[in-house]
Amino acid sequence: MANGIDRGLSADWPYPRLVAHRCGGTLVPENTLAGFDACVRYGYRMVEFDAKLSADNQIFLLHDDKLDRTTNGHGAAVEHMWQQLAALDAGAWHGPQFAGTRLPTLADAAQRCARDRIAANVEIKPCPGREVLTGTLVAQGTLTLWQGQTPPLLSSFSFEALAAARDAAPSLQRGMLFEEVPADWLRIVRELDCVSLHASHRYLSEPLVAQIREAGLRVLAYTVNDPARAQLLAQWGVDMICTDRIDKLQHDMLSAPASPA
Ligand code: G3P
Ligand code: MG
Repeated sequence: MANGIDRGLSADWPYPRLVAHRCGGTLVPENTLAGFDACVRYGYRMVEFDAKLSADNQIFLLHDDKLDRTTNGHGAAVEHMWQQLAALDAGAWHGPQFAGTRLPTLADAAQRCARDRIAANVEIKPCPGREVLTGTLVAQGTLTLWQGQTPPLLSSFSFEALAAARDAAPSLQRGMLFEEVPADWLRIVRELDCVSLHASHRYLSEPLVAQIREAGLRVLAYTVNDPARAQLLAQWGVDMICTDRIDKLQHDMLSAPASPA
């Protein structure tokens, strides 16, 4: 295995302990460039965001399949051309001070990562039925756009999308996303040659974190907003903590990063 489990934890892990969920958590409109400003303000060095395709295959940042919750558009994102999506307001829903905020492309996010020296966890979030194409294009786009920067960590809840990403850009590191970690997690991460396993912190326990790390994988826990819970997860050896509250969770409140196996 070129990448991942057999390589051990000490190889290529350039990521900090704390990761800002959806760019800047809940302080600013999610999955927008305003999140990078918030990260700079609070000393965050890594963002997670959700990437999907428009009808004409532009890669852009949005969490939901639909536009309605976080933009002034309506309906399925996948039915819109990028020109239509680029005209939407993706900030006013969060507060009037963010009116006029646009949906960013993957290229916009890469530029901000470079400018602000911020690492990225690019979550491949395909619209239904577009898993393989989204995995392929996001992986290829990431490889091209992040040249000369810390390579992003790719992740997805979609096995098909992550398999396509592996085939399109095998050199990029991958993490499999679960809500609750299934019994056959080891088979899945092996098949995808993952370096990390990402799970809801609600379903993690100290023995499970130990098992995952003993298999040579890193662990990302989401979405952790309580400092005491973050401290406990860090003590268990969780490698990355993804949070909405970048104003409450700071690196110096966590124990030293878990040492490599
Ligand atoms: O990658 C961690 C987290 O972003 C997964 O959940 O639904 O916020 O994309 P979601
Ligand atoms: Mg996400």
